Amino acid sequence: MTGDVHLQVKVDDASCVEVRAEDCGLVIFGASGDLAHRKLFPALFALFVRGLLPDNFFMLGFARSEMSDETFRAGIVTAIQSAAPQSSPEQINAFSQQCRYVSGAYDDPDAYLRLAESVHRCDVDFCTRPNRVFHLATPPQLVSTIVERLGAAGLTGEPEDGSTWARVVIEKPFGRDLQSALEMDSGLRQTLRQRQIYRMDHYLGKETVQTILMLRFANAVFEPIWNRRYVDFVQITVAESIGVEHRAGYYDQIGCWRDMFQNHMLQMLSLVAMEPPISFEADAVRDEKIKLMRSIRPFPTENLNRWTVRGQYGPGRIDGREVVGYGDEQGISPDSTTETFVAAKFFVDNWRWQGVPFFLRSGKRLARKLSQIVITFKKPPLAMFRSASGGDLPANVLVLRVQPDEGMSLRLEAKQPGTRVCLGTLEMSFKYREVFGIDPPDAYERLLHDVMLGDQTLFWRRDGVEAAWSLITPVLESWETNPEAGPLHLYPAGSMGPAGSEELLSGEGYGWLQLLGQRAS
Ligand code: BG6
Repeated sequence: MTGDVHLQVKVDDASCVEVRAEDCGLVIFGASGDLAHRKLFPALFALFVRGLLPDNFFMLGFARSEMSDETFRAGIVTAIQSAAPQSSPEQINAFSQQCRYVSGAYDDPDAYLRLAESVHRCDVDFCTRPNRVFHLATPPQLVSTIVERLGAAGLTGEPEDGSTWARVVIEKPFGRDLQSALEMDSGLRQTLRQRQIYRMDHYLGKETVQTILMLRFANAVFEPIWNRRYVDFVQITVAESIGVEHRAGYYDQIGCWRDMFQNHMLQMLSLVAMEPPISFEADAVRDEKIKLMRSIRPFPTENLNRWTVRGQYGPGRIDGREVVGYGDEQGISPDSTTETFVAAKFFVDNWRWQGVPFFLRSGKRLARKLSQIVITFKKPPLAMFRSASGGDLPANVLVLRVQPDEGMSLRLEAKQPGTRVCLGTLEMSFKYREVFGIDPPDAYERLLHDVMLGDQTLFWRRDGVEAAWSLITPVLESWETNPEAGPLHLYPAGSMGPAGSEELLSGEGYGWLQLLGQRAS
């Protein structure tokens, strides 16, 4: 049985009205790179089309490659056309006319003087007030240098009267362990105040990730059962079918645990498990998330392999296509021991969650792209319908589908039609696209807009980064110093990870959830 839930959407509510950002200029470091082309330019263009970019606005690209404004604009046009092929050429052209380019080495002080000159010229040409966003779409090791040079060139100052502002957006990873994260932060603080730093985790900009808070705290029905008394276990999966792609140099130094768990996975876990914040203000929400991260039980250094499973993809088939194993990817050494998959069991040591396991897994070259959060509730205490259901009743399951096919579903048991007491599983499901008639906007749209509005709710705070690394770093150190703590399990590309990931759950009588109608992994 399946059924649909229809949502009545309030469109006349003032709080639903999206506001245009204040006049500003946006400087993108790493503007010739992949992130800028794949995500930032299309997101800015989408904001432009929706009328959410400021009236007076410019975007200035900065990178090492030498190129003219025209060549830079041609790259922007191509990037937008490939991300949004239906876009109007006139609108793309109008947007690209607001974009200019400066080349230079990231550590060359003279390049920052040239940049400052260009910024001032753009202020005049585009009539912008001197409000600035600097977006660092660069490798993490360049962050401190860029921020320091920006400060020295006088670009990050904010007047005491608050009349203009300068904000710096930093992409994850924020360091590569606790120590380096603390060093990075103290470097940033030489130049910037906390309110100027926007630590971006694009998962927080995903509509369906934000929905977790609305679901939990805008409805009274879930909160009373959102605890150890009613929840049996929680699973969070972020599966990707892509491999390391063209990011070998970065990924092989980082691995899945740092790349996905230190940030996206822990953020989703925090949103699912945190206590209600006192308001929806940035610091109130972040206080609760950080409190939650601090109550996650540190991983034991002994028997770590009973808590975590590390894997690396071997050759296999994805979507009917042969793909190579990680060691044969371009730029990866055949004897690399970097993990491309991790499954881990977390516990939250507080009153609400004591004893409830949170199983998290993420990996590359898995059977399909799928990010979802699954809350499995406890079974009814009395099996009075045992004969009608042919055995034990299945548990109620709430699935929050982060992507693709964004939405949520609730699995319930119900009577099948007829004279017999015969039960079946019903899935009530909400699909974002069916209800709203569109796909959710890309996370970068929301986050870039929030930076321009000065809203830090969906960005990491310094103490959050520290709390996350405090949990993640000891595991890295154990894996690095003791090969038995984190043996590498090979899994075929196109599977759902190594067998050990199934065993992590089955050892405790659980299993990874298969959705109704989905093929088994
Ligand atoms: C990034 C990771 O943060 O998130 C990538 O560095 C990963 O390795 C990506 O592929 C996944 O994002 P999404 O939005 O495609 O799920």
